[in-house]
Amino acid sequence: MPANESNDGSELWDAVDVFLSGKLGTTDAILEAAWQASAHAGLPPIQVTPNLGRLLQLLAQTQGAKRILEIGTLGGYSTICLARALPPGGCLVSLELETRHARVARKNIKRAGLQKLVTIEVGDAKQLLAKLVANKTAPFDFIFLDANKDGYPEYFRWSLRLSRPGTLIVVDNIVRRGAVIDGSSSDANVRGVRQLLDLIAAEPRVSATAIQTVGSKGYDGFVLARVTRLRPAAAGLRRGRRKSESRGQRSAAFAS
Ligand SMILES: C[S@@+](CC[C@H](N)C(=O)[O-])C[C@H]1O[C@@H](n2cnc3c(N)ncnc32)[C@H](O)[C@@H]1O
Repeated sequence: MPANESNDGSELWDAVDVFLSGKLGTTDAILEAAWQASAHAGLPPIQVTPNLGRLLQLLAQTQGAKRILEIGTLGGYSTICLARALPPGGCLVSLELETRHARVARKNIKRAGLQKLVTIEVGDAKQLLAKLVANKTAPFDFIFLDANKDGYPEYFRWSLRLSRPGTLIVVDNIVRRGAVIDGSSSDANVRGVRQLLDLIAAEPRVSATAIQTVGSKGYDGFVLARVTRLRPAAAGLRRGRRKSESRGQRSAAFAS
């Protein structure tokens, strides 16, 4: 059921989202024009909300990001938000499958005056990511995953290869109205998100959390993962740490 037809509070979430956006000025004429142009071109209305767009901008600014990678451009709404965080000379690479979406996005980005900072690559993100790695592209400071959810596990693996210690990876739409907790789901998007979470849980190179959200786009959430190091701890080091940990546990046991 579409979120706004239910009586689960989503009308209120929507009203509060609009209220907060108006109060804090998280939208403006440029973003409105991008939204309108995307709708006019028949693109699906699945871009981030103004408040989430501002959050992405703030996170990238806080990160001091000079190089940003985005997977899933659509009409360039989140691209504009992220590119606004860049200093002069920074760069944002956004990957998009659909030529039509990329065309709309380029116009929106030009209208926003950000075309010198943004490159949109058209194609399947898996291949484009492999190409970035093969070309030994410099690591990105901030990575935003927002394309097909069944591709998330693979996008995350590539993202790690395009990171440095300290890179922040944000992954959108991971709660899926709560369906994320359904281990028997046959929905490819839910399965993709669950595989991503398994991958992150087993990944020693990142420190991560996930936040649930409600708002104009209903009930969802995102993952924040910070890359802490590039290589898993060497086996010898791990063995050494286990030994010293068990020594520590033994001496703690003797002490108690
Ligand atoms: C949720 S929309 C992105 C919204 C955008 N980040 C924003 O907030 O303004 C997802 C986009 O990912 C694109 N996409 C889907 N599968 C893809 C793939 N395999 N490779 C690259 N892009 C893909 C879709 O065409 C769509 O434009």
